[in-house]
Amino acid sequence: MASYTICCLPGDGIGPEIIAEAKRVLERVAELEGFSLTMEDHLIGGAAIDACLAAGEPATALPAATLEAARAADAVLLASVGGPAWESDDPAAPRPEQGLLAIRSELGLYLNLRPVKVYAPLRSASALKPELLEGVDLLIVRELTGGLYFGAKERIEDAPGAGEDGACGVWCSDAMEYGEWEVERVLRWAFECASRRPRGRLTSVDKANVLFTSRLWREVAHRLATEWPEVDYEDLYVDNAAMQLVAEPAHFDVICTENTFGDILSDEAAQLTGSLGMLASASLGRGTPLFEPSHGSAPDLAGRDVANPLAQILSAALLLRHGLLEEDAAARIERAVERVLEDGWRTADIADETTPADRVLGTRAMGDKVLEALV
Ligand code: IPM
Ligand code: MG
Repeated sequence: MASYTICCLPGDGIGPEIIAEAKRVLERVAELEGFSLTMEDHLIGGAAIDACLAAGEPATALPAATLEAARAADAVLLASVGGPAWESDDPAAPRPEQGLLAIRSELGLYLNLRPVKVYAPLRSASALKPELLEGVDLLIVRELTGGLYFGAKERIEDAPGAGEDGACGVWCSDAMEYGEWEVERVLRWAFECASRRPRGRLTSVDKANVLFTSRLWREVAHRLATEWPEVDYEDLYVDNAAMQLVAEPAHFDVICTENTFGDILSDEAAQLTGSLGMLASASLGRGTPLFEPSHGSAPDLAGRDVANPLAQILSAALLLRHGLLEEDAAARIERAVERVLEDGWRTADIADETTPADRVLGTRAMGDKVLEALV
């Protein structure tokens, strides 16, 4: 019997509640499919910072033990990090998000896949008109370990400048940096992926009318387009892409873009599905693959049993598909989620005025429904 180890990182906010549901679903699907899973929890984000402080150790959002466990595992299932408890005016204070960025970078996970699927029963939960959502099934391929997130950062407290008295006050800079190889490995993946999809369209998103890094991005994309003539290739400026995504979302198939643009466009695209609570993601690259919902830690919902666990459960499905190559198990989870939605069950974020009050479930009860639907 195949056996796998999953490193689970509950993190902060709603993280522990939603990952608990995903773990129950994974256990059940492993039983049904006949493989064994060892799941171990480790600290990341604010939870890790607090644990360090409680132990009198220097605070870090990614403890060495967590990274070691992640490296040793077959896949990482992460929930979410961050919250007001760790917000600080001190720019040097450790931040929960550093744990997330560090694990992505340490594991070499340069490719982030965010499938945006609109479930028919949720069309009325989207802010967009239902007829615009017909046929929406797109994939955002986001570069994950470069650009503004990882470029040189600087802060000068008393910088000279052109303000009054020749002073500027504080001056900050985040550099957007990309090497050709970084751009190429992501775009190659996106072209290959687009070539295997029924519609075979790839939209590369950049800001080549302004940014040097985007011109490089476009240069590489155009070079690769000649290698995949069967792919219906186009490029769009990011501002236009943001508009088209809500004007004509069904136009898109695969969207490939750099780190920051991908972060922003994926939250926008999540609105097509009805809620950020539906968007799963897979991060792939050199090391252990990592799977996490695209949403944050929603501190306002934490501890109230109201958060939507479906993005986390769908991330577990991506883990089975891309991390463990257990396609049948992944498809089982996706079918179960679909069935639950077809039966009218909702969490508060995906409920609308037509949803009867007794169909609106909490986190745990939604987990129960998915378990029941797993056949
Ligand atoms: C995401 C999140 C993260 C990101 C934050 C929490 C650092 O917004 O995964 O989209 O910006 O990558
Ligand atoms: Mg984001």
